[in-house]
Amino acid sequence: MNNEQAKIFIAGPFSQLLTMDHLPMKGGLKDGQLEIVEEAGIVHQDGIILQIGMFKDLFDRYRSSNPEIQRIESDVVAIPGLVDPHTHLCWAGNRAKDYALRLQGVSYNEIAAQGGGIWDTVTRTRIASDEELKNGLISRASRQIRNGITTCEVKSGYALIPAGELRLLKLIKSVQKELPIDLVSTCLAAHIKPKDFYGSQEAYLQMLIEELLPQVKKGKLSNRIDIFVEERAFGIREAENYLKAAKSKGFDLVIHGDQFSSGGASLAVRVGARSVDHLEMIATEDISLLAASEVVAVALPGASIGLGCAFAPARKLLDAGCSLAIGSDWNPGSAPMGNLLVQTAILGTFEKLSIAEQFSAITFRAAHALNRTDRGILKKDYIADFIGFPGRDYREILYQQGMLKPVSVWKRGAQIL
Ligand code: NIG
Ligand code: FE
Repeated sequence: MNNEQAKIFIAGPFSQLLTMDHLPMKGGLKDGQLEIVEEAGIVHQDGIILQIGMFKDLFDRYRSSNPEIQRIESDVVAIPGLVDPHTHLCWAGNRAKDYALRLQGVSYNEIAAQGGGIWDTVTRTRIASDEELKNGLISRASRQIRNGITTCEVKSGYALIPAGELRLLKLIKSVQKELPIDLVSTCLAAHIKPKDFYGSQEAYLQMLIEELLPQVKKGKLSNRIDIFVEERAFGIREAENYLKAAKSKGFDLVIHGDQFSSGGASLAVRVGARSVDHLEMIATEDISLLAASEVVAVALPGASIGLGCAFAPARKLLDAGCSLAIGSDWNPGSAPMGNLLVQTAILGTFEKLSIAEQFSAITFRAAHALNRTDRGILKKDYIADFIGFPGRDYREILYQQGMLKPVSVWKRGAQIL
């Protein structure tokens, strides 16, 4: 009678388990608010969590269902699988040359003005074969998995012509089928106006609205649209029209905003974006606007480290009541490191973020920025994405500033590392 039912698994015992449950989506957090289960177990079935509790109690309770025990033999702390809400993982070539120039004092914007920067990656990506692009994406996404990331946003944005952008989104979709990580794709065709589009910024965006967005929708390639709002990319007024048009087609909105100049955060609030990402230059008055909205503030410390710029004011954002997520922004230009945990720990130490705030920013708050509200917390009915680090104290994970690596990674209940 029970033959049809999927098998029940119990993973554990974990020396500690951080559920990230019962925490608010917005505002500052104290470590004392964290729910920690000692000698814990996770009961799951069909990739979904049935129950969290003490391993011994769970074992007794589910014994009659003949569960399969996924026994942990050493001291391991379990936390939810990490969520990276902002990456550009699909590109060809590299920009080590730009990096060396920046170290000599040439700015990111000056390099772009000289024809390097994003445009350089676009030209290389356009001529790369599908295989080359796919291999690059697989290798970066696999490294994300080894670093404990079980959900990862990936943007297009290095082709900047409709056919090329569709190709990148299709490649992301095909890699999704091959790897045990959820890739959430975002269309960033509005990264910059390509040099070979002979018209205004506005005309380029209008072309995307007419020729690209319907195909992205039809092919179910992404339901998220991003735009780089910046003097050198797209201005506020044209971005607003583009975002409203995308919203009317049913897309979720994301903005690269306030990286070098402000205006992006208030635009995000006006158009009802899911998130506004970067925020290094957010204006003080816009912090309260953001705090009063449902827009998630996504800090990208990897870009600050890559460019040698100030961090987003994460402490002020949280104190004002914002929801703060952190993304790696892994890309070949501004953020080549690609290590979410290292970057979170570095932002945390400079901005004085509690461990609770740091973990929230890369688990359930990041999941919220992606509108994936079924993950980032270890509780009943959530996806069984969890990772284990060696030790008996959850604080050691950030204390080692990203150098302590996961010893196990579980995606939808399957152990993949
Ligand atoms: O988030 N600022 C715009 N886009 C990326 C950088 C992309 C690149 O330099 O290739 C960012 O920093
Ligand atoms: Fe980015």
